[in-house]
Amino acid sequence: MSFSPPSDKAMVPFVSVENMMHLIHHVGIEKFLCELTDVIEDDFRRWESFDKTPRIASHSRQGVIELMPTSDGAFYSCKYVNGHPRNTIEGLQTVTAFGLLAEVSTGYPVLISEMTMLTALRTAATSAMAARYLAPSGARTMAIIGNGAQAEFQALAMKAACGIETIKLYDIDPRATEKTRRNLAGSGLEVIACCSPQAAIERAEIITTCTADKQFATILTDNMIGAGIHINAIGGDCPGKTELHRDILLRSDTFVEFAPQTRIEGEIQQMPADFPVTELWRVVSGEAAGRCNPQQITLFDSVGFAIEDFSTLRFVRARLAGTDLCQNLDIIADPDDPRDLFGMLQRCRQ
Ligand SMILES: NC(=O)c1ccc[n+]([C@@H]2O[C@H](COP(=O)([O-])OP(=O)(O)OC[C@H]3O[C@@H](n4cnc5c(N)ncnc54)[C@H](O)[C@@H]3O)[C@@H](O)[C@H]2O)c1
Repeated sequence: MSFSPPSDKAMVPFVSVENMMHLIHHVGIEKFLCELTDVIEDDFRRWESFDKTPRIASHSRQGVIELMPTSDGAFYSCKYVNGHPRNTIEGLQTVTAFGLLAEVSTGYPVLISEMTMLTALRTAATSAMAARYLAPSGARTMAIIGNGAQAEFQALAMKAACGIETIKLYDIDPRATEKTRRNLAGSGLEVIACCSPQAAIERAEIITTCTADKQFATILTDNMIGAGIHINAIGGDCPGKTELHRDILLRSDTFVEFAPQTRIEGEIQQMPADFPVTELWRVVSGEAAGRCNPQQITLFDSVGFAIEDFSTLRFVRARLAGTDLCQNLDIIADPDDPRDLFGMLQRCRQ
C-alpha cells in the first residue's frame, strides 16, 4: 500500500545559513538591523505578555550550551546556543545557534532557522535599542573592545539605528582588529584601529565590550570611565565570565534585560543580590527613566534574552514572504489517521 505525501503542516520552512545570508542582503544589512531594532523594541513594550524564565544552561570546563525558550501565548520560540571562548583556537566559532518558532494552538513548528547570523544581528539590534534610551544624546563615537564575530554587527547597528559615525577598535589580537577594520571599509563609518583600550575609549561616548574569556576579566577599570559614558557590555554573559571592574557598577545606573537571568550571568553577578537595576522594558514602555542627565554613567549589562530571539524569528518569518529563501523540511510525522503512527511506519516498509 502506498502512503500519502506529507501535508502542509508537516513540512516546516527551514532557513539555512546560505539562505539567511541571501535574505540579509536582499533586505540590506542596515535596513535589516534598523527594522529588527524596531521589532525588538515593540516586543519589549509588551514584555508582560511573555512567559519568562532564565535560560537553561549546561556548563562545562570549555563553555556553555543553553536553551532559550519563551512564548507570547500565540507563538513559542526556543533557541539552542553555545558559548565556547576557546573554540576560535580550533578554527571554530565562540557562538553558534539555531532555533524554532511554533504555533501555540497546535504546538507545530512554523519555522526552523539557523541563528548564528541571527544572534549577531539581534544582539546588535538590542544594543542599538538600549543605546536609543541610554546613550548621551548626539553620541557619534563608539569604542569596541573585542573585535571578534560580533564586532561589525555592533558597529553597523549603532550606525544605522543611533547615528554613530566613528568606531574605535581594540583587541588583544591585532589580527582581529585588522579583520574588523577591513570588513567595515566602505560602510561609511570612520574606523580607527587602536593599540590599547585606553586609546580606543578616548573621546568615545559609547563603549561596547564584546570580548570572550571564560573567567572574571577586567576589560575596563574604574579609572577608564569618565562621566556621561554609556557602556554596552555584551561579553559578560555567563557565571564566572565578566568584563568590568565592580567599581564601575557602583558608579553606574545599570539596565538589564531580565533581572533573574542577569543576576546569574551578567556583570551584576559580582554584586549583592539586591544590587539595584532597571529592566530595560520598563524604560521602553515609559515606566522608568533611561538617561536623565549628561553626567550619568549608564550601563547596559547585556546577556541576551529569549524575547530578542522570538522577535527575530517572527521578523524573519515575515521577511521571508514572497522569497524562495527557505526549504521545506519533512520533520513532523504526519499519518493519514493521526492515531495510526505505527501504521504509517508499517506502510513505509511495504
Ligand atoms: N549579550 C549577548 O546577547 C551576547 C550575544 C552574543 C555573544 N555574546 C558574547 O560576546 C562575546 C564576543 O562574542 P564573539 O562571538 O564576538 O566572540 P569571538 O571569540 O569571535 O571574539 C572575541 C574577541 O575578544 C578578544 N579578546 C579576548 N580577551 C580580550 C581582552 N582582554 N581585551 C581585548 N580583546 C579581547 C579576542 O581576541 C577575540 O577577538 C562572547 O563573550 C559572547 O559570549 C553575548
